[in-house]
Amino acid sequence: MTLLLDKDVLRKSLPMKEAISAVEEGFRLSKTALVPQRIPLKIERHNAVFLYMPAYVGGMDALVVKEVSVHPDNPKKGLPTVQGTILLNDPSSGSLLAILEGGSLTAIRTGATTGVATKYLSRRDATNLGIFGCGVQARTQLEAIACVRRIHKAKVYDINATAAKKFAFEMSELLGIDVKIANSPRDVLEGMDIIVTATTSKIPVFSGEWIAPGTHINGIGSHTPDARELDTETIRRSRVIVDSREACLEEAGDIIIPINEGAITVDHIKADLGEVVRGECDARTSDEEVTVFKSVGLALEDAVVALRAYIIARDKGLGKIIEL
Ligand SMILES: NC(=O)c1ccc[n+]([C@@H]2O[C@H](COP(=O)([O-])OP(=O)(O)OC[C@H]3O[C@@H](n4cnc5c(N)ncnc54)[C@H](O)[C@@H]3O)[C@@H](O)[C@H]2O)c1
Repeated sequence: MTLLLDKDVLRKSLPMKEAISAVEEGFRLSKTALVPQRIPLKIERHNAVFLYMPAYVGGMDALVVKEVSVHPDNPKKGLPTVQGTILLNDPSSGSLLAILEGGSLTAIRTGATTGVATKYLSRRDATNLGIFGCGVQARTQLEAIACVRRIHKAKVYDINATAAKKFAFEMSELLGIDVKIANSPRDVLEGMDIIVTATTSKIPVFSGEWIAPGTHINGIGSHTPDARELDTETIRRSRVIVDSREACLEEAGDIIIPINEGAITVDHIKADLGEVVRGECDARTSDEEVTVFKSVGLALEDAVVALRAYIIARDKGLGKIIEL
């Protein structure tokens, strides 16, 4: 018997607080995980990347494989940029426990991962959040950060003014937070304690010279070696934590380009998120320090969140039982 979990069921079975707790536990257990580097297929003809991502987290006995695609031109056709499917197996028998809609699960787990990073890395008194990009990921980024910090005000910027307006209206209604539209990229950073970049841009979306001391930045949008949302100055002046060293050194232009320019060395990456969660490395060392969390996205996050969603849905009788 296999459970089919569509996006509506996932939303019901997986509140953001649950997802954050699953991801935090997943990173705590990351030493028990098998997470091979994912396989990207870049299909130039369709301006698309397909990613094939398996993971097993031993400490939770969670096993998944995800296929996910990124089509940055899709919103013009009324389709989401990120689409995917996740298969959750029983590691003891191989039986297929669940098929999960991967676009919404990806957005939830990417938000939850930023939530965990922001809990450890941002100043405890952070209340103001600036966001670049007003698409699907930006929504769960705001939702997750609002779970770990008392966010009073958010300022957002998108090159698509309609997307920014829609986001500001919908998210203030949903979360009861004052969400304003910034006048310019520089304005997003003005007076903000936490910054998120969740865009499809291939070039930096702001200048590292504009960052105020004490800011925490989550860079989540770019995931190919030739693309970056954060410039060399941002990386150079920051304490950098990543979701995975191996994955970021393979995929994150935000880190790879400054290394190739000679501005930083690999040692500039202070830790991965698992090391921070386990207390093996200091998170923030002063209120003045600028911190960066760079994520490219790991199947470990999918595994722990998919398992949590499956258990909740199964126990509540949610989802559709199918026989393959
Ligand atoms: N790190 C991870 O784990 C992870 C997970 C999922 C998606 N992603 C990546 O995050 C990015 C965003 O995904 P999405 O689903 O939100 O896409 P989306 O298309 O829904 O939203 C992206 C938004 O960014 C805006 N944008 C593009 N360039 C900009 C710029 N220079 N300044 C401001 N806004 C700009 C677009 O207009 C669009 O509204 C994608 O590149 C995706 O591959 C990363």
